[in-house]
Amino acid sequence: MNWIYEDEVNRCLLCEDAPCTKACVKNLNPAKRIRSLYFDNPYGASDQLPKELCGECEAPCEKACILSKCTKPIEIKNLMEEIKKIKETEEKVDEDFEVDLSCDICGVKLENPFMLSSSVVGSNFEMIDKAFTLGWGGVSFKTICLFEQYEASPRYSALKSRTGSIYGFKNIEQLSDHALEENLAVFKQLKDKHPNKVIIASIMGRTKDEWEYLARACSEAGADVIELNFSCPNMEDGTLGVTIGQDEELIEILTRSARKGTSKPILAKMTPNVIEMSPYAIAAKKAGANGIAAINTIKSITGVNIDTLAPEPSVRGYSSLGGYSGPAVKPIALRFIAEMATSKVLEGMHLSAMGGIESWRDGLEFILLGAGSLQVSTSIMQYGYRIIEDLTSGLKGYMRERNIHSLKQLIGAASTNVVELNELERNTILFPKFNLDKCIGCGRCYISCYDGGHQAIKFDYEKRIPSLNGAKCVGCHLCKLVCPTGSISTQRKRITR
Ligand SMILES: Cc1cc2nc3c(=O)[nH]c(=O)nc-3n(C[C@H](O)[C@H](O)[C@H](O)COP(=O)(O)O)c2cc1C
Repeated sequence: MNWIYEDEVNRCLLCEDAPCTKACVKNLNPAKRIRSLYFDNPYGASDQLPKELCGECEAPCEKACILSKCTKPIEIKNLMEEIKKIKETEEKVDEDFEVDLSCDICGVKLENPFMLSSSVVGSNFEMIDKAFTLGWGGVSFKTICLFEQYEASPRYSALKSRTGSIYGFKNIEQLSDHALEENLAVFKQLKDKHPNKVIIASIMGRTKDEWEYLARACSEAGADVIELNFSCPNMEDGTLGVTIGQDEELIEILTRSARKGTSKPILAKMTPNVIEMSPYAIAAKKAGANGIAAINTIKSITGVNIDTLAPEPSVRGYSSLGGYSGPAVKPIALRFIAEMATSKVLEGMHLSAMGGIESWRDGLEFILLGAGSLQVSTSIMQYGYRIIEDLTSGLKGYMRERNIHSLKQLIGAASTNVVELNELERNTILFPKFNLDKCIGCGRCYISCYDGGHQAIKFDYEKRIPSLNGAKCVGCHLCKLVCPTGSISTQRKRITR
């Protein structure tokens, strides 16, 4: 899609009960279609699009757009025309091609790989009931324990992109603030209403007996899988959460205790606050865990208020290290999934991946690196459970386009492509190629190459056109990354050695 329209899509507020859709006299549901574009899902955006679009319509949708109250409305009519173009290019995709998103966690069937991860998004019946009804495949319930929680307020802080979306999120939240019996009753209620959805009980004990007791109680109440929270970075007590996840011996002892309490599959939820995750995952496997859930949040400080000197989130002037999540952590999560997927010792262990999944593409990347199921929190907190529509339809669209029937065919398909640095081919340079039809002459490629690269781009200030000095270019692709209009491709190759 043209970058100007991408910017327009990013301006959309993704309103609840969107006035534009209500105002549309042709029932085109522009809000849903724009939301699909926002979540990188052209298939969903163009789904069931009628041949006749807006025509002479005077765009009441744009008049209704909430943004017109404070700035200019979204150019909805133009966006609908862009979506029509997508539809035309996708006409060849067979919409009737059967696609199966189902997968399983150690034999427990999931209708699709997307689940709520253990956090506030999976903490009571009403919320999970809504999520299941919208299409989520399962939930890892907010971590259950046998001690009371006294949370700090506020408990969140965030880093935002220039368009205002949260890309890094910090929380200092602890565990479920509901009593065990209350949570177990929710499991039963959920199982009665949604027998085919998967319930993972996330638990944390203070003693071996508590781990065993919680595993047993949750299994008896209907949980399909038990997840051992060895990774919460926000516990005050030194023998809980992340402290366990950084100690192989403790992991082994406590996994063994939980194993005594249940015959259900056990996932050990791991912390990324380690150098390598495999040794800890291996300890869990030895003691009877069937899979690994990763990653929990990363210890962080998101910022310091330069007026009050209080770190964020400020609790009466003070803050603590807290768990970082959201799109910013995805590369770290992918790294750990790739590490475990290629470990021979961990072969056969289920990998339930999370960390920054916002779009179907994010989820697919984890699957390609070896994840067998996916979990999501931060993006639901920001956008709501409705993102499941684009997660599943985007993934289906990708599979249809490539004639892939079953999601299982994709699990681990890219894992062997992560190799050691010394295994990379270093004899070829891929030169940038400037597409001058698309280039608008901003000169960003030139500045970056000159000040942060190899001075290989010349800039004609009169004509505002970049050109390449092939003798200096090392093919690093910084220019391509900073180009705002996507006008740089890489087609020429040169053998350097
Ligand atoms: C507000 C909040 C509360 C969380 N609470 C828990 C928890 O109780 N137990 C747990 O295992 N993980 C907890 N997590 C971690 C998430 O389950 C998940 O591992 C992490 O946020 C990365 O996924 P995401 O980027 O999709 O949020 C919490 C995360 C957030 C943001």
